[in-house]
Amino acid sequence: MLGIVFTSFIDMLEEKVSPDFADDVIMEAELENDGAYTAVGYYPFEQMERLVGVLVEKTGKSANELLYDFGYYLFGKLGAVHGDVLANTTDILQMLEHLDSDIHVQVKKLYPDADLPRFKVLSRTDTTMRLQYYSERELYPLAEGLMDAAAEYYNCQLERETHQLDIPHTYEFSISIV
Ligand code: HEM
Repeated sequence: MLGIVFTSFIDMLEEKVSPDFADDVIMEAELENDGAYTAVGYYPFEQMERLVGVLVEKTGKSANELLYDFGYYLFGKLGAVHGDVLANTTDILQMLEHLDSDIHVQVKKLYPDADLPRFKVLSRTDTTMRLQYYSERELYPLAEGLMDAAAEYYNCQLERETHQLDIPHTYEFSISIV
């Protein structure tokens, strides 16, 4: 997993709680690198699972809730660092339509080893979309947070439902703009 995801996660803990809290989480996660991340490095996904696991214990929130909150926060970080990849987008559904074929493609050019999920548009109207998400990491709550934060970025709000499909590691988001 790309370092910017880890550095953003730690930034979130520092900002939303405190730098001491972030240090405690890192220490309790007993990471080989002691939580020394650079934005352009790559680190095992297992380290993110450990960090989230510690946070579950400390906060009493579920991993899914925490991943959602982190997704919401992460969009701001990614948008700040890579605002240019959003330059050609005008609204949330158009952005999601081009996530797989454009935005994450640009990301892959910048970070060739990025391990990106796959998205497929199943249907689309002016105000609705059915979007299929595939990732062995099954980070659908992270995607939900990213989508809701993206909606805010485009000054709109979404109604969403998430369903797991019979295909392994695959989920469907039914999205409508309200
Ligand atoms: C500013 C726009 C965006 C940028 C620059 C961006 C970039 C990235 C990057 C760098 C990663 C990490 C890859 C790795 O760990 O190797 C990532 C992962 C991910 N992105 Fe995006 N992303 C953007 C928007 C979105 C949006 C709106 C969604 C929501 C559907 C999304 C869904 C995901 C998910 C779920 C992952 C986690 C990897 C996984 O599921 O296996 N991204 N993205």
